Amino acid sequence: MSGSLEQFLNDLSRGLERTMVAVNKELTLRNRIQRSWSMRQCARFLDVSYQYLTKFANSHTDFPTGNYVGRERVFTLIELMHMRALLAASAKKPYDYLAWRTPGSPLPVISFASQKGGTAKSLTAAHFAQYLSLHYGMRVGVMDADPQSTITLYFVGGEGLPAMPDENTATMVDFAGLFQSEESSWTEHDAETLDTFFLKTSWPGLRLLPAHGDTSEGEIQIARLVRENPSGKSFYRYLRDSIERWRDHHVPKTAPNDLVEDGKVNRSKLDSALHETLDCIIIDYQPALTLFQLNNVIASTSLIIPQTMKGFDIATLSTFVTGLLGMLKHILAHERIDIGQGPNMLLPTIVQRTNEQDLNQVSNLLENCPAEILPVFYLRSDAIANASDVYQSVYEYEPDTPGKRKGINRFITNADAVNDAIVARLWPGKERGYAAAWMDNFYEDDEEDAA
Ligand SMILES: Nc1ncnc2c1ncn2[C@@H]1O[C@H](COP(=O)(O)OP(=O)(O)O)[C@@H](O)[C@H]1O
Ligand SMILES: [Mg+2]
Repeated sequence: MSGSLEQFLNDLSRGLERTMVAVNKELTLRNRIQRSWSMRQCARFLDVSYQYLTKFANSHTDFPTGNYVGRERVFTLIELMHMRALLAASAKKPYDYLAWRTPGSPLPVISFASQKGGTAKSLTAAHFAQYLSLHYGMRVGVMDADPQSTITLYFVGGEGLPAMPDENTATMVDFAGLFQSEESSWTEHDAETLDTFFLKTSWPGLRLLPAHGDTSEGEIQIARLVRENPSGKSFYRYLRDSIERWRDHHVPKTAPNDLVEDGKVNRSKLDSALHETLDCIIIDYQPALTLFQLNNVIASTSLIIPQTMKGFDIATLSTFVTGLLGMLKHILAHERIDIGQGPNMLLPTIVQRTNEQDLNQVSNLLENCPAEILPVFYLRSDAIANASDVYQSVYEYEPDTPGKRKGINRFITNADAVNDAIVARLWPGKERGYAAAWMDNFYEDDEEDAA
């Protein structure tokens, strides 16, 4: 029976392809963004009081009309962006409403990475990206470095949106220029071409560089380039160089208070401003420490390590940390290069409140590496399973029964707190106090439990 594994894999692969066609159809037909938000919720996203926003709405004819669901007026994501533009136009600090980069300011590249699977990397990255859009109107670039395409699934599907990426869709491997061309053993795409690789999503200004099975080619291509070593280009600089090339040609030009003319938001100006640049890039990793992932690390200004808190998980984390450190030392011995100069942090995830081992692990870490670990973290939630099943964040997900609403709301509070804590480190002064409120609550409850 020689070659039976080959036969098996061949047949299975054909069967899976047929299965994927059915899955893709389902995803494409799904109506992605059903969600809209009430005036009260919009006020919270905009960080103004409900009273202020209602008054503002009544005195501005160009305020979005929204839609009535029963007696409540609700607004879509683009209407929320429209509100931001309108508020920014008359604000003392326009950047409070659209937290866009100013000309000349650096571009944060934030990586969510760990060597272990199932540590909520993708969930954390997706929620962070959407949080920045909802609360700050930021233009976020999401890059999927995992051939399993988890974070891609959070953003694709639905009418007018990119369908499931297939082998013709550009991925990070293309962005990094890792494929051979006729003239060269890798491809230096110009900035405009790189920009076309980002796909629009249903989140205004949030663009996706998706992944699919072929993303695993990245590793093979880097191995080839290491062997060939064309013109001595460093094997760890492919993504970094591409991002820098894109960045230097996509500088922020439009200011948040440039979008209103004669009391009206110029929607085509808003639309082009939403796509002229990005305010940050978020990379969701494959659970591995490979040369491709190393390229991502070298391109990043910040590393966030989402990590579960079981005993063995900490051992895997140590392996990842020492492995990465070894690679960095090797690189720094050869080249003076700034790597990860922004804030870096460890984020505990899926922490089970009723599990003593989990809580002990968190407090040990807080004691032994107080500066590195975030004191706000993701608690395990059963409610998230329903949303995860359809690859929706809790920000998007609308439960079909009111009973499920409670658990989702609790998770939103948790996600807001974690995201606020990350914002506080990345953009000090921009935080909203959700992290502080969560900590008061969590650590106070803890004391009660102890008493
Ligand atoms: N706080 C949580 N509570 C319960 N389940 C969670 C939580 N965070 C993530 N999960 C689940 O764990 C699984 C792995 O999450 P994912 O983000 O895909 O991890 P990774 O990207 O690290 O592999 C998913 O099914 C997700 O829904
Ligand atoms: Mg993942």
